[in-house]
Amino acid sequence: MDYKKTNERFFKEFRYKTDIIMKKLIPYGCQWIDKEDIKGVVKVLKSNWITQGPKVREFEEAVAKYSKVKYAVAVSSGTSALETAYAVAGINPGDEVITSPLTFTATANAIVRWGGKPVFVDIQEDTLNIDPKEIEKKITRKTKAIVPVDFAGHPCDYNKIRRIAKEHKLLIIEDAAHALGSEYRDKKIGNFAHLTILSFHPVKNITTAEGGMILTNRKDFSEKLKIFRHHGIIKKPEKGGWYYEIENPTFNYRLTDIQSALGLSQLKKLDKFIKKRREIVARYNKAFKDIKEIIMPTEKNYVKSAWHIYVIQLRLDKLSVDRKRIFEAFQKKGIGVQVHYLPLHLQPFYQKKFGYKKGDFPIAEKYYQRAITLPLFPKMTNKDIERVIKTTREIINFYKK
Ligand SMILES: Cc1ncc(COP(=O)(O)O)c(C=O)c1O
Repeated sequence: MDYKKTNERFFKEFRYKTDIIMKKLIPYGCQWIDKEDIKGVVKVLKSNWITQGPKVREFEEAVAKYSKVKYAVAVSSGTSALETAYAVAGINPGDEVITSPLTFTATANAIVRWGGKPVFVDIQEDTLNIDPKEIEKKITRKTKAIVPVDFAGHPCDYNKIRRIAKEHKLLIIEDAAHALGSEYRDKKIGNFAHLTILSFHPVKNITTAEGGMILTNRKDFSEKLKIFRHHGIIKKPEKGGWYYEIENPTFNYRLTDIQSALGLSQLKKLDKFIKKRREIVARYNKAFKDIKEIIMPTEKNYVKSAWHIYVIQLRLDKLSVDRKRIFEAFQKKGIGVQVHYLPLHLQPFYQKKFGYKKGDFPIAEKYYQRAITLPLFPKMTNKDIERVIKTTREIINFYKK
C-alpha cells in the first residue's frame, strides 16, 4: 500500500469534511434531518423491533400512498433496488437491457450483475434523458427491458417509451433514484413503468441514510420482490409456523425499522423539500438568464421535476478555459460543485467488456465536457444561494473570452 498517497487522500478528505462542518464549503447536496426525524428514530430504537418489524411496512405503505401506486417494497439501497428489480424482471445471462449512458454506474452495474448487457442509447440534448427516437434502433431479439433514468429528477418521455415497450413486449424498469415526487403529465413517478426504483441516499429527495424502494402496480412482482430481498424464503404456514422453503437462493437486501422510521418522518416533509428545491431553481434561473456563457437546465411543460440536482453547461466556445479549470475555481471558492456523470460507455470496464468507445454517444459526450452541478438542497440558506449566484457570476466573468 502507498501510505503517503493514502495519507494525502485522508487529509484531503478530512479538510473537505472540516470545511463543510465549518460552513466554509457549500456541498452540492445535503440531507435535512430535524427533531421529528430524530424522535421517530429514537422511538424505534427503544422498541422491540429495530428490523423486520412494523415500521418497514408502514414506510412502504406511505410511499405507495404518496406515489399513488399499489405496491412498494423497501430494500437496503437504490443499488439493491436495481438488483432486485432486474432479478424479478428476469434479466439473465445474454439478455440485453437498453439504458442511458448518462447515469450513476449502479444502473448498468446491476445489469452486469445478472449477466446482462447494458445497451446504451444517446440522450436528448435538452432533457438529458434517453432519446426515445434512438431506442427502437437498438432493439434486438435479445432485448429484455428498457431502463429509463429520470436524470436530475426530470421524468423521461413515458408516453413514447411505453408505446415502444408495448409494441416490442419489453419491460420498463424506471431508475427514479433522482425523481421521488416528480410528475409526468400530472401523475407521480411510479405509474409509468412495470417496476420503478428509488434511492434514499442523503443527497436524494428524502433520506434513510442508505436505503431504496421498488414501486409497482403488479401484485406478482411485489410478491417476488419480497421473497428476493429475504434470501429467497417462501413461507409455508400450512406446514408449520416456522416452516419455509427455498426455491431460488438469494441474499439479504432488507431495510431496517430504524431507517424506515427516518424515511416515514422524511416523507412528511417531501413536498416542502420539493417546493424549496423548485424555489432555489427559480432563483438560479432568474440570476443566470443573462449569462451567455452558460446553458441552464430544462424543464419540459409536461413534467414537474423534483429537481434532485441543478446542472449548468458551459459554452466552452465563449470561455478561455475548460471545465476542469472552472470546476477547480468553484472548489477554491468553497462551492462544492460536482460532475454528474462521466457517461458510462467511457468507463474502462464498459469499453473492455462490451467494446464501447469514445464517439459512440456524441450528445452525452458533449454534455459531459461542459457540465457542472451547482449546490441544490432544501436546507440552503438565503446566504448560501446568494453566494452560489455571486461566485458563478464572478468565475464566468473572469474566464469569459
Ligand atoms: C441514477 C441512480 N441510480 C441508482 C443509484 C444507486 O442508489 P444508492 O446510492 O442508494 O445505492 C443512484 C445513486 O446515486 C443514482 O443516482
